[in-house]
Amino acid sequence: MAHLIAPSILSCDFGNLQRDIEMINVSDADWFHVDVMDGNFVPNISFGFPVIQAVNQIANKPLDVHLMIANPDRYLEDFKHVGAEILTVHYEACTHLHRTVQKIKSLGMKAGVALNPHTPVDLLFDIIEDLDMVLIMSVNPGFGGQKFISNAILKVEQAKNLIHRRGSHAIVEVDGGVNLETGKELLNAGADVLVAGSFVFQSKDPNQTIKDLKLLNA
Ligand code: DX5
Ligand code: ZN
Repeated sequence: MAHLIAPSILSCDFGNLQRDIEMINVSDADWFHVDVMDGNFVPNISFGFPVIQAVNQIANKPLDVHLMIANPDRYLEDFKHVGAEILTVHYEACTHLHRTVQKIKSLGMKAGVALNPHTPVDLLFDIIEDLDMVLIMSVNPGFGGQKFISNAILKVEQAKNLIHRRGSHAIVEVDGGVNLETGKELLNAGADVLVAGSFVFQSKDPNQTIKDLKLLNA
């Protein structure tokens, strides 16, 4: 499939959130990447339900919600309610991951599992068939604008391989430090979805930057 681009709204100008959402609406982006941080699982707090609901009212593309929170099971219904289409939980935050994934799917959302940079892809062996998406973190979660960890490229290859071996339909998303160079390497390794925050929103022309990411490997 042609790769997808998911700009991360964590890097938006929150004083002009509507303007930035509308920019993404008319851009070549495919999804909105929505980072939820709880100050517990990760050392930062981002935003919660009222903000996501407001974004959803303006957004005309799917919300790809990345939960960096402890005990995500407590809030799965709430994220469905505010408009999540794809809901990704962290492997490291779920004791009963199979139950969590089934619950996400039973609520009518696509289920993703994210792996921190130190978490091996092979740990997904017994759950991969149930997943719609694997999210490879190419930075330690918690902040935008960090340096890309290049081992993520190898992990994308490993994830694609595992998906193939197990007959899974899951796609592979990568999040953190994505720009035109790292993006190209990730696509060559088999990535299906690129998340980009600071690279898009700190560029002179975010709309054009999204287009450039979309045209990689075209
Ligand atoms: C990091 C978040 C990312 C972040 C990416 O914890 O999950 O989605 O917004 O930002 P950049 O693209 O600036 O690394
Ligand atoms: Zn993210």
